[in-house]
Amino acid sequence: MDDQEALSRAAEALFRAERCLVLTGAGISLESGIPTFRGPGGLWEGFRAEELATPEAFAANPARVWRWYRWRAAQYGDCAPNGGHEVIAKLEDRFPDFLLATQNVDGLHPRAGSRRLVELHGTITQMRCEICGALEPFPDPVAPDEDPIPRCDGCHGRMRPHILWFGEQYWPGVLERAMGAARDAEVVLVVGTSGQVWPPAMLALQAKRLGAFLIDVNPDATEISAAADVHLRGPSGELLPLLWERLLALG
Ligand code: OAD
Repeated sequence: MDDQEALSRAAEALFRAERCLVLTGAGISLESGIPTFRGPGGLWEGFRAEELATPEAFAANPARVWRWYRWRAAQYGDCAPNGGHEVIAKLEDRFPDFLLATQNVDGLHPRAGSRRLVELHGTITQMRCEICGALEPFPDPVAPDEDPIPRCDGCHGRMRPHILWFGEQYWPGVLERAMGAARDAEVVLVVGTSGQVWPPAMLALQAKRLGAFLIDVNPDATEISAAADVHLRGPSGELLPLLWERLLALG
């Protein structure tokens, strides 16, 4: 199948369907300037994400973990959604039944206008009280010599980023909502994920097994692209706008 035929087949599958699940990973935000998890450019002061995004790292040195998240939040704030995020936001209006399940915490999907979404791994736009669980917006920047650890307005407990860390359980209902969408979907559009993190990858493969048409957008081959009906091989910031044009041409 050549690239043009792949785009046409993907557009036709989206055009015919009424129930759609979109699953995204770090690759969709690469063209916005945010490095992927498993690609180059992920280090901060010599630490890898796996060494900072854990409950153990937070217990051992909460100030370091907060400084890292404050740095990331500032970095993300300087980035803007790209054409790929924008197409996914527009796509949701075409389906009576639609869900975007993202593994990204960068907040670019909601900034692009996505509303019917579940952020499987949380979001850098919020923080949560360790004691009472209250959610509050991510804090304003502090000076380098100030305490970087915010306190809860209600109970004065220590706040943490509202992000799912390595080794933690998914929050109740989050995965279930995405699994429900995967079970019902007629078409699943996967964008920019290596498929190496199991529950999210399983959503796509399970939907395919249940009969959904599976589209994968990724410059590289993955377990998901191997199972896909159509693999759109290239950067999502370029290919999703082309897919959108094909879809509009169908009606
Ligand atoms: P990865 O870094 O594992 O994979 C990013 C994928 O994006 C790769 O397959 C790349 O080939 C692809 N990619 C690169 N450039 C792209 C582009 N321009 N357009 C589209 N795709 C592109 O990131 P994730 O799969 O999102 O979880 O990682 C999943 C999870 O692993 C993360 O959410 C995180 C981590 O463990 C938690 O923190 C809980």
